[in-house]
Amino acid sequence: MAAHSGAKLAAYHLILFSLMKVLLTTTSFQDTPGKHQELLNKQDFEVDSLRGPLTEEQLLPIIDQYDALICGDDDLTAPVLEKGKKGRLKYISKYGVGLDRIDLVKAKELGIPVTNCPGVNQVSVSEHVFALLFSFCKNIHLEYNVTKAGGWKRYVNREIFGKTIGIVGLGAIGAEVAKRGAAFGLNVIGYDPYAKPEIAEKYDVKMQETFKDLAAQSDIITLHVPHTPQTEKLINLDLVENTLKPGVIIINTARGKLIDIDAVKLGLEKKIIAGYLADVLDIEPMPENYAMKDWDNVLITPHIGSRTYESVERQGSAAVENLIKMINNH
Ligand SMILES: NC(=O)c1ccc[n+]([C@@H]2O[C@H](COP(=O)([O-])OP(=O)(O)OC[C@H]3O[C@@H](n4cnc5c(N)ncnc54)[C@H](O)[C@@H]3O)[C@@H](O)[C@H]2O)c1
Repeated sequence: MAAHSGAKLAAYHLILFSLMKVLLTTTSFQDTPGKHQELLNKQDFEVDSLRGPLTEEQLLPIIDQYDALICGDDDLTAPVLEKGKKGRLKYISKYGVGLDRIDLVKAKELGIPVTNCPGVNQVSVSEHVFALLFSFCKNIHLEYNVTKAGGWKRYVNREIFGKTIGIVGLGAIGAEVAKRGAAFGLNVIGYDPYAKPEIAEKYDVKMQETFKDLAAQSDIITLHVPHTPQTEKLINLDLVENTLKPGVIIINTARGKLIDIDAVKLGLEKKIIAGYLADVLDIEPMPENYAMKDWDNVLITPHIGSRTYESVERQGSAAVENLIKMINNH
């Protein structure tokens, strides 16, 4: 009897899944071979792949054709979600952590569940933080080009040992940065009013009462908070002019909108900020004439902090599993 109903359920799922039309927009999922692709291919979904992140303009004409999205940082605005809901859209599985490009209030109002993939990319992103930091402090970004061209220019570099690193946001990535920071002999301080106290204890992070307290003491500031109204322009003109320790290095692998770009430009020009190292921009992909892209004290990578073979596979599999769970729970 149980076997009979189990077989019936399996048959039901087969039909349900084969009726699902899924839009896949994340390029790292598509471009990186691995178990995540095998898992998606094993489902009976009809999958269309597009090269995201897609704008509202690109999504509006097509969104209503899909039952589900496996998306990256596409513009899932209220009009897009409303159009989707009028059509077939039932599930959104975000590949990644940040949900700031999805209108979550509208999704909830329309009854469209949204999932993300916490806890899968913190190792990759925290390693990227140190890749940026060491590249900059050892001038690898400059030396590489000189020796490539046959030159031999010997820069004087910096050590990070003994410096104070201020971690803003002691979540999954912030905690991994703290762990690695201690191993490199950094004095680790943090600011996160919502962090679990045991994380700070475990990694010996001296927590600060305010963000300004952290900013005033840090030789290196690294941002690991989501983009919210509270965190928008966390690095602003007032902070640059009145609080930052001169010579600070700012690392941003979180979101471009956490900084006021004009304030950072001014800080770099006045040498209050020694270096701005970013994996994320306020406009992505980077426009051709993007301010600061040619500056020696600015290092930009194209939002690839979590784009490692290991992390893409974990993240992609989690995104597919989340979608399967949503469909099964429906
Ligand atoms: N570059 C990349 O490829 C990449 C990859 C993954 C995540 N990210 C970005 O990194 C951010 C952090 O990711 P995570 O996985 O560590 O997220 P997380 O949710 O585990 O941690 C975020 C932390 O920020 C804290 N926080 C929230 N609001 C705050 C505020 N106003 N002030 C101080 N702390 C605050 C939270 O308490 C939490 O501990 C993401 O939101 C995302 O924007 C970037």
